Amino acid sequence: MRSTSHSVVLALGLILLTLISQCYGSPLYVGYYQGKCWNHNIEKIIFGVVKEKFEKDPTIVAGLIRLQFHDCIVRGCDASVLLDGPKTEKTAKPNLSLKGYEVVDAAKEVVEKICPGVVSCADILAIVARTSVFLAGGKWYYVETGRRDGVVSKESEALANLPSENMPVRDAIHLFASRGLTKEDFVILLGGHTVGVTHCDKFSHRLYNFHNTGKSDGRMHKGMLYEMKKICPRKDNGHNNKVYFTYNPRSHYRIDNTFYKQLLVNQGVLEIDANIGRSPLTNSIVKKLAYSPDYFYNKFGPAMVNMGRVGVLTGNQGEIRKSCRAANYYHKY
Ligand code: HEM
Repeated sequence: MRSTSHSVVLALGLILLTLISQCYGSPLYVGYYQGKCWNHNIEKIIFGVVKEKFEKDPTIVAGLIRLQFHDCIVRGCDASVLLDGPKTEKTAKPNLSLKGYEVVDAAKEVVEKICPGVVSCADILAIVARTSVFLAGGKWYYVETGRRDGVVSKESEALANLPSENMPVRDAIHLFASRGLTKEDFVILLGGHTVGVTHCDKFSHRLYNFHNTGKSDGRMHKGMLYEMKKICPRKDNGHNNKVYFTYNPRSHYRIDNTFYKQLLVNQGVLEIDANIGRSPLTNSIVKKLAYSPDYFYNKFGPAMVNMGRVGVLTGNQGEIRKSCRAANYYHKY
């Protein structure tokens, strides 16, 4: 009798725990650092660091938003992208154009001085990305924290997991789904391309030899094709120039829905961007985002929060690094 009632209590306890974890979904939560660092407001302090850098160089907003994506998609949001060393994620070709490491370092330095060993680099990445979205005119969103830092970073994993600019839409949807992100998350997150630049080598095949036809991508906006050919000549003597994702100079570093509007008139620069505008799998979402500035404004932050949950380390997993560029303990693999 006694053992039966024990079993019932245990079963009820397990059901309750399951319900609680389902309600909260993620082990992270908003305000994790409250009270963990005396009375200091960690997020506000980091905001100040980013703002100071942003005032000198507004292009860092794009770098910092991209940095969080490249971290989360490889090994989860564990700051593995920040680790220095031979053959780490950083050294993988698609990561060579990442920007903003020095901003993360500066933020870490400030918080380490105030309360050493408390704030993870993975959380700093999420906080600087949110700050960047806001400084670039996007809507403020509450960022979840409580991540810990990974100790492993491999170039091979970055090469295997970072999406290529020519990836078919269906494959990109699968990639994001494998990280627990929906198709809508994917299309909204690609709106990161509403800020920043890309280099000619990422899309010049669309100008000169689209899918080995020896011709340009016939669906590219004619005026844009003409402009892009000027910036990215066939023989560029190794210059590999940059172009902005968005045409309007006022939008170059502004989080707004210009990117989606351009997609509907065949002015997407990367093949993947152009393709989400055309694919029947994603076209209706692109239209919604293009027609309603508020929709993108309200949805980008929540999609970033979803991305920030991918493969996080919590509890006693991982560690809190002293420097974002090095694991506290040497791990040989
Ligand atoms: C299938 C998914 C994606 C692909 C294939 C992709 C590809 C690229 C490529 C090729 C570049 C230009 C790199 C260069 O030329 O140096 C770029 C830039 C950028 N990406 Fe993505 N991206 C993807 C998703 C995302 C997501 C989800 C975000 C953010 C949430 C993002 C944010 C950015 C930003 C902000 C830049 C500009 C960086 C700068 O100006 O410094 N991308 N991306």
